[in-house]
Amino acid sequence: MQSTQSPDKHVVNGALSQLQFPALKDCFMLCSISTSPTNAGLSKAIYRFGNTHCMNALDALHLRSSVPKLSGPLPSQQMLENIYKAAFSAADHAVLKPWRFLVVTGGSREKLGELFAKAGVAKDASLNQGAIEKLRCKPLRAPLVLVCISSYKPHPKVPEIEQDLSAGAATQNMLLAAFAQGLGAMWRTGSLAYDPTVKNGLGLSVEEKIVGFLYIGTINGGTKQLCEPDIQSYFQQW
Ligand SMILES: Cc1cc2nc3c(=O)[nH]c(=O)nc-3n(C[C@H](O)[C@H](O)[C@H](O)COP(=O)(O)O)c2cc1C
Repeated sequence: MQSTQSPDKHVVNGALSQLQFPALKDCFMLCSISTSPTNAGLSKAIYRFGNTHCMNALDALHLRSSVPKLSGPLPSQQMLENIYKAAFSAADHAVLKPWRFLVVTGGSREKLGELFAKAGVAKDASLNQGAIEKLRCKPLRAPLVLVCISSYKPHPKVPEIEQDLSAGAATQNMLLAAFAQGLGAMWRTGSLAYDPTVKNGLGLSVEEKIVGFLYIGTINGGTKQLCEPDIQSYFQQW
């Protein structure tokens, strides 16, 4: 951890109002991002504060995209702390924090793969070896898999749907925090997220749901070209 005076410390503490963004000449070109016109723009949006790379909040919101191809190493401890902390600024009715996250790294990814394979066979005993192997390898697609769980807490004013939405918002915040630091990330579910064998194996209670598997790592290859959405057609004056 850096001294309280260092810019890094400001980032770790998430004290964004105190951040002084450096001049554009200090922009940091991320070497892991390819130099297509879109990606060149993306890398220019990432600033360096000491050892920390991060993006202006609006740039992160406007430029984020999923990265399916990820590789090691595991993000630094500081990056991980920034990601985890981002979950806690999700909108959250009655501040219930209706979420928890399982951190799956290293050999635990193989254990998760075994669980996926077990779930596949439990569902379909005739599953062929290739399909079983595919399930087993899924968690190896990134150095870090966060199992994001909506953890319902009974409350007179906050129905389950609102708590699920908060857990989803926390997951999206972490996706953005990863992206803002130049990491690649992808939110995945598939039938495994709803599978009873997987839920039991991960120790979920009956009230809990997996809202997503967040795959996080180093961008391996490029990021996709962003299309300009037809934003206006989704907003009607009322
Ligand atoms: C709850 C949820 C579950 C998702 N599950 C999957 C999945 O299992 N497989 C997949 O390819 N994409 C999945 N996606 C979509 C991707 O994460 C991604 O958002 C989508 O491919 C669009 O790309 P973009 O994020 O770059 O806009 C899921 C998204 C959400 C919100």
